[in-house]
Amino acid sequence: MRIGPYVFDALPLVLAPMAAVSELPFRRICLELGADLAPTELLSAEGLWRLQARTLAYLRHDPACERPFVVQIFGARPESMAKAAEVALERGAGIVDINMGCPVSKVTKNGAGAALMNDPERAVAIVEAVRRALPESIPVTAKIRSGWDSASLNAASFAERIEQAGVAAIAVHGRTRAQAYSGTADWGAIAAVKRAVRVPVIGNGDVLCREDALRMVAETDCDAVMIGRGAMGNPWIFRECKGGPAPDRSERGVIVRRHLLEHVGHFGREEVKAVHAFRAQLACYARGLSGAAEFRREVMRIDDVASLLGAIDAFFSA
Ligand SMILES: Cc1cc2nc3c(=O)[nH]c(=O)nc-3n(C[C@H](O)[C@H](O)[C@H](O)COP(=O)(O)O)c2cc1C
Repeated sequence: MRIGPYVFDALPLVLAPMAAVSELPFRRICLELGADLAPTELLSAEGLWRLQARTLAYLRHDPACERPFVVQIFGARPESMAKAAEVALERGAGIVDINMGCPVSKVTKNGAGAALMNDPERAVAIVEAVRRALPESIPVTAKIRSGWDSASLNAASFAERIEQAGVAAIAVHGRTRAQAYSGTADWGAIAAVKRAVRVPVIGNGDVLCREDALRMVAETDCDAVMIGRGAMGNPWIFRECKGGPAPDRSERGVIVRRHLLEHVGHFGREEVKAVHAFRAQLACYARGLSGAAEFRREVMRIDDVASLLGAIDAFFSA
């Protein structure tokens, strides 16, 4: 697969952009364990071009492993999206991805995210504006859904439009906006987009193990596989998809410990807030292991890093 100047091996793997999950510490772990790309979560174009500190903080990245650094932006106004792309570029972005799939009403009511699939003219204007704002060497990509709802499954025709407008790759989540994250992903939408465009297509939705990834490629002919929830608490999924081993319990513990410490250091926020924010991810790491329910209850009562590290060590060395 090639996206602009970036060339990838067979079966490239992408960590899905996920709000409050695809943060630098987790992106770094996934990239080290075999992910080829790991975009940021969706960042507000309005926040970026206005240089709002809270939004800019999400542009912190690690050039040593994020090659390229992929920044996902959302917005409804072509001028804002173009200016946001320039800010992302100045701060290290090597690929700018446009969110055309977010189902959250706060985003869609303004015409951004998945609402763009109902408004292809606007989507095209956004791609063209962002494309014009960036040098040729910086690819613009997009992430779409199968459609707005079951009555408007337009992924293939929509993909053709944005390809003509200049996107260099398209990620397809095989669910409609109406489905949000429920039900099963329709990989047929991925196959339909693949047949419709020449740029690389990244398939997404319900990949939970290596067999799923291989089946998605076989059934859709997609060029790369994007993994979201299947990587939460299981970044080893990328290594396993590439034929590597599953982790044992103690290797899990080493990564969880590191993830927590980097998480706390990265955000530099109050210890108790950092510890609380980590709970959801910690629960994912424990999923399926003996004693997980008790461990989850225990960590809900912990407010400081030292005690949490103690609990992690005890649980993962059990
Ligand atoms: C907690 C969470 C946050 C998400 N945030 C984003 C986001 O910021 N940008 C985006 O394009 N998709 C986002 N998504 C959608 C995922 O990227 C992905 O398309 C979806 O989870 C389906 O893939 P999966 O079945 O592998 O999880 C999010 C999903 C989850 C579960």
